[in-house]
Amino acid sequence: MSQTERMPRKRTYLMCPPEHFAIEYVINPWMDTGTAVDAGLALRQWHFLHDTLAGLGHRVHVLSAQAGLPDMVYAANGAFSVDGTVYGARFRHPQRAPEALAHQGFYAAGGWTFAEGNHVNEGEGDFAYLPGAYGGLILAGHGFRTDPAAHAEAQEVLGRPVVSLKLVDSCFYHLDTALAALDDRHITYFPGAFSAASQRVLAQLFPDAVIADQADAEAFGLNLVSDGRHVVLNAEATGMGEKVRAAGYQPIHVDLSELKRGGGSVKCAVAELRPRP
Ligand code: ARG
Repeated sequence: MSQTERMPRKRTYLMCPPEHFAIEYVINPWMDTGTAVDAGLALRQWHFLHDTLAGLGHRVHVLSAQAGLPDMVYAANGAFSVDGTVYGARFRHPQRAPEALAHQGFYAAGGWTFAEGNHVNEGEGDFAYLPGAYGGLILAGHGFRTDPAAHAEAQEVLGRPVVSLKLVDSCFYHLDTALAALDDRHITYFPGAFSAASQRVLAQLFPDAVIADQADAEAFGLNLVSDGRHVVLNAEATGMGEKVRAAGYQPIHVDLSELKRGGGSVKCAVAELRPRP
């Protein structure tokens, strides 16, 4: 990647506090119902992330947490928006299904154009948007959660080309655990999380990507939120921090040890809202 000045862009985010967060079931390899979550610590870490994003000048909306939905803190999974249109989530696992309605309510109140997802898809967990790549490109993951039929549906709803990528390692079950947008047209990803053919597609479309390794991905270093300059990522992902720094971005580490017990980190906790430009 060329070493130019990385310009931040003001973002709008949606987060949901971990007020009812717990490990009550196992739907990914990181979860273990035997480990107790430190609820107070989870909330403090979440607030620190919230304040970090707000402190960078971004607008952060907060969705009320609901009892009985312990994974609702992973707000990225509730929907995916591009230029004012929202493609609603439909969760793979019944335990999380009601979260989609809570997100739908938020967008309805905000006057967004909302399209319900008829196929299983977990919002920004499996969809990423690069507004400056190829005129506006959507990258989409499948293999564990989102149904490939949802990729085609998202393309029809959002009117942007969707590139389907196959995830092959259950530890990296959502696209956002293996790939992230660093700015409007640059990405970083861990090739080993993708099928050989999908690796080929990514190399062709993004020859200047920042390449991460297994250790970066296991430290949730790819589960990051970037505003184009400031890259907010998990505290343990020090190697990933150095990689983005070498590419001209400014890493900002936050400790999300408790959210990691549920199989998520920074990006999982943050949905980006993309209003009509
Ligand atoms: N426990 C949640 C699940 O397995 C974690 C979701 C993480 N979110 C994400 N965007 N990767 O569904």
